[in-house]
Amino acid sequence: MESTLSPKTPKDSLVVMTELVLPNDTNTFGNLMGGRLMYWMDIAAALASMKHCGSPVVTASVDNISFENPIRLGNVVHIEAKVSRAFHTSMEVHISVWSEDTLQHFRYRSNEAYYTFVAIDPNGKPKPVPPLEPETEEEKRLYEGALRRRQLRLILGGKMKPEDADELKALFLSSSRNESFPDN
Ligand SMILES: CC(C)(COP(=O)(O)OP(=O)(O)OC[C@H]1O[C@@H](n2cnc3c(N)ncnc32)[C@H](O)[C@@H]1OP(=O)(O)O)[C@@H](O)C(=O)NCCC(=O)NCCS
Repeated sequence: MESTLSPKTPKDSLVVMTELVLPNDTNTFGNLMGGRLMYWMDIAAALASMKHCGSPVVTASVDNISFENPIRLGNVVHIEAKVSRAFHTSMEVHISVWSEDTLQHFRYRSNEAYYTFVAIDPNGKPKPVPPLEPETEEEKRLYEGALRRRQLRLILGGKMKPEDADELKALFLSSSRNESFPDN
């Protein structure tokens, strides 16, 4: 069903969060704890989805997160979150994490992830969210891939039968014919 809500762009939901890694954030190796980073990512992503839909949200799921590089005590963490696709009551948020050694003037990529949030009405029920209109090439790429990621997470969450996942099936059929395999 077509939404009657005014569309928003990914830029409208952009949230950039900056944190300094303090001793209480680290493990015994002096690196940022993964759980603390996921907590910051959850907050940044929740704020982005709230900016998109203008109402409270709950985290419905978090896709797999891999940590590419350890983040040292005293480094700065930049978390960028933007809605990458809106569905009916749920939104996928893309999160990109960069770290910075401010003394050595060195910036490096730490990880990326996708979180899914559901907008909630005053009765605690899921409510429709505005559609998303991607603008840049990167936003369009994330938007296209979101359907496949949604089907995969709904299958893993027991909310969709694999045989109903048309986008995923099309992806595997095209890759088995040696056609190009999308990044996400
Ligand atoms: C997320 C939640 C609101 C979904 O409620 P529900 O009764 O399953 O509602 P529905 O089946 O109507 O699904 C609502 C939306 O959630 C999405 N959803 C449900 N489970 C999902 C999952 N595992 N992953 C991604 N999206 C999911 C559905 O696809 C649907 O999206 P759509 O309307 O855009 O198509 C409900 O499970 C909940 O409140 N969970 C607890 C959330 C929470 O406390 N999070 C914080 C800490 S864990």
